[in-house]
Formats: sequence, C-alpha cells, structure tokens
Amino acid sequence: KRLAILISGRGSNLQAFIDAQADGTLDADIAVVVSNRPDAAGLERARNAGIATACVDHTSYDAREPFDTALLETVSDYQPDAVILAGFMRILTPVFLLPFTGSLLNIHPSLLPKYPGLNTHQRALDADDSEAGVTVHFVTPELDGGPPVLQARVPIQTGDTAERLAARVLEKEHLIYPLAAQWLLQGRLALTDNGATLDGNAI
Ligand code: GRF
Repeated sequence: KRLAILISGRGSNLQAFIDAQADGTLDADIAVVVSNRPDAAGLERARNAGIATACVDHTSYDAREPFDTALLETVSDYQPDAVILAGFMRILTPVFLLPFTGSLLNIHPSLLPKYPGLNTHQRALDADDSEAGVTVHFVTPELDGGPPVLQARVPIQTGDTAERLAARVLEKEHLIYPLAAQWLLQGRLALTDNGATLDGNAI
C-alpha cells in the first residue's frame, strides 16, 4: 500500500511515519511527501529518508480551487491508497477532498469536537480544562469537523504553558497517527454516512 503525506512545516509527524515504516509497525510505502511551502523542514526529513518530494506552492495560485487542482494532479501521479495530512496548513476544497473521500486523514491537536482551528493548547488552558489531547479524523469539507477515528488524552498540569502542553501532546500524536493510518490501509477503518467505523463498529 502507498501513502502520500502532505506537510507545511517541521514534519515531526512525517518523521513518526518514517520511523514506523522502518520498524515495521506501518506496512506501507511513503510514495511522496508534498509541501505547500518550499522551505518546509519536513521536506529535508523526506529527502534524508530517500522519499520523493514535491512542492505545490500555494502563493503561486490566486484561489483555493486552482491550487487544489494542481495539488490533486501532483498527488494522483503517485497513486496513493491513502493521503495523510500531517501539519498541512491549507484549507482544502472539494476539488481535492472528493477524489480522496474515505482515504484522507488529518491530525488535530485537540480533543475534537473541542477547539477546531488554531491555538488549541492555549484555548484549553484558558478554559481551565483538566485535560487536552489530539484527534485523528477523516477529512470532510467541514474544517476539523470530519468523523474522529482515534484520540489520545493528556492531563493538564499545574503551571502548564501552551508550549509544554503541545510538547506532551505531540508525543501522543506520533504514537497514534501511524497506527490510525495502518488501520486505514488494512481496510479496518471506513467513513460511512453515519461516521467512522473500525472493523464495522461505530467509533
Ligand atoms: C501538529 O501539532 C499537528 O497536530 C497539527 O500541526 C502540527 C504539525 O506538526 N495539525 P509537525 O509538522 O508534524 O511537526
């Protein structure tokens, strides 16, 4: 099975996929890593691992749809079985989403449906929450709104800052994201009209 991984930045989740593939817990080829930013540090991680890279620079397009069309063409060239958004910081339109419905995952650093969007850790702290966490979810046109697949929870500690909390959540991200991708590639996960299922059971 083949994965395409889309990034915008440092690529620590991409690195978790590279490591999971190396240690055999992820049974997949990473066919390509695509960034919308030419300077994304994650591209270097991909090159170091011998993975093909591509950049579709969003600043070269004046609207979301033509960017999504170019992204779709680039990704489709690699014929992925699943597409993994790993810190990919562009909102995607149905132009890209529809062809990959049910095979497209994102990771979001909150316990969705809490805190879609940005600054999730600061928002959890400001709300005096007792825990934070991370969610892997199927991608639908609703931003951070697709059906959750897997979550990990992290207790908030006295004196936590957004940075400290983010670092502890990130460790969990690296554990759960390759696992969720492995389930998807094994055909265990599905996106249905009523939400996500694992082995046929509602999640
Ligand atoms: C992660 O916190 C992820 O949850 C969010 O963006 C960040 C990406 O980090 N969607 P990295 O580029 O994988 O290190």
